[in-house]
Amino acid sequence: MDVEILGRVLSTLPDDDDHPYRTGPWRPQTTEWKADDLTVVEGEIPADLDGLYLRNTENPVHPALERYHPFDGDGMIHAVGFRDGKAFYRNRFVQTDGLIAEREAGVPLWAGIADRPEKSPRQDGWGARGRMKDASSTDVVVHAGVALTSFYQCGDLYRLNPLTLETLGKSDWGGEFPSCGVSAHTKSDENTGELLFFNYGKDAPYMHYGVVDADDRLVHYTEVPLPGPRLPHDMAFTENYAILNDCPLFWDADLLAKGHHAARFRPDLPLRLGVIPRRGTSAQILWFEAAPTYVLHFVNAYEEGDEIVLDGFFQGDPEPRDTGDGSFYQRMFRFLALDRMQTRLHRWRLNLRTGQCREERLTDSITEFGVLNNTYGGRRNRYTYAASGVEGWFLFNGLVKHDLLTGKEERYTLPEGVYGSEPAMAPRVGSTAEDDGYLVTLTTDMNEDRSECLIFDAARPADGPLARLLLPERISSGTHATWAPGSAIPGWAGADSPATSVGL
Ligand SMILES: [Fe+2]
Repeated sequence: MDVEILGRVLSTLPDDDDHPYRTGPWRPQTTEWKADDLTVVEGEIPADLDGLYLRNTENPVHPALERYHPFDGDGMIHAVGFRDGKAFYRNRFVQTDGLIAEREAGVPLWAGIADRPEKSPRQDGWGARGRMKDASSTDVVVHAGVALTSFYQCGDLYRLNPLTLETLGKSDWGGEFPSCGVSAHTKSDENTGELLFFNYGKDAPYMHYGVVDADDRLVHYTEVPLPGPRLPHDMAFTENYAILNDCPLFWDADLLAKGHHAARFRPDLPLRLGVIPRRGTSAQILWFEAAPTYVLHFVNAYEEGDEIVLDGFFQGDPEPRDTGDGSFYQRMFRFLALDRMQTRLHRWRLNLRTGQCREERLTDSITEFGVLNNTYGGRRNRYTYAASGVEGWFLFNGLVKHDLLTGKEERYTLPEGVYGSEPAMAPRVGSTAEDDGYLVTLTTDMNEDRSECLIFDAARPADGPLARLLLPERISSGTHATWAPGSAIPGWAGADSPATSVGL
């Protein structure tokens, strides 16, 4: 492994930090690495694995003003690229306006989600709540040959060179980028080259939906009127429709009027799912009502006869009670533990002719952060690959392949003390079957104080990794990941080594 240090940041986190989401498996990194020819610890890198795994991370540089929430951390992208049976690795901070301002100040300038916005030293800021730092640390997709990072509370889309991970700037869309920003979970449709997105905020109409074409031009933007401010996190799409949501978990209206942002589950209200033609207007939205829950993540949607089939994770308990069990931090962050929220793969069938919604639980297993072979995005898929969680914590301890046709599940569990990432499915070059490819994930190994990249056969993940590659240092647990085939990345094919190509 050839290793080079590209940069270091000066962290002002306390040496005796005891915050579980800034220590242990969530210990942030301060070093940016470039490593070529990664050491293979076990197995062999498949020669037909060709492309990039990208993963975002909440990686804080400064302490919170008072209370740190793991969603506040500064965005850091980890990338592992595979070509010709070799692999390279890079990690870089997303150079957000907030990160740069705080680097100059040497202190935090914005209140995180668990602190009150009035505490922000800066009057400006981002996010649906307002006066937050856009950390761009939630999600990453590749669109039009560029990696785009995003923030769950809405903000800019930061454009990164997918090979060097250098921040190129922010999406501007010819001056038409929405003033209220864009939410995490933009959808990059590999079949059309389009990027679908939504945003949300505290001002009517409370949500918008838009489409960016394959040439990165904003070609559609429309209002999605909601009854009030909502906290959507994800969306879905089919070949002809986008699916937005109005979940009954949102800021209490009376408290919000007094300036308090207290999210409450309202089991007296339905989950509403809004179906809109991909280039449709607000007048064309069909709303469906379903059993109350909060959906953090959908997996996929597709059309079948008169119905839209929508798969996602139903939360059995969107607002877990404080039972007094566990540590102070476990109680504070009980909303992040999959077992507390009881997240299960679920199917909503939205009948466009009758306006009725039928729904069914697809499994008793608790999983979340589900992904699929993205060439099946918006089309009928059979398989979902999801993460399993560590009880009581926002940590992943393995992956589960759900066969949605037979109900069969295949599971791979990591050793105790080793934590995984959201997997990504990498179709084998030239593949024709949906699960003909690989699953890629990154680990944080607290036993050996190191991190690895694991590659599984997507057809047989329970067999364990086909290959284990060593990363230069132990990385923090993180958030969303994506796969980009080499063919989608400028400069990939022509370069002697994608690792040394500047690409763009
Ligand atoms: Fe998410």
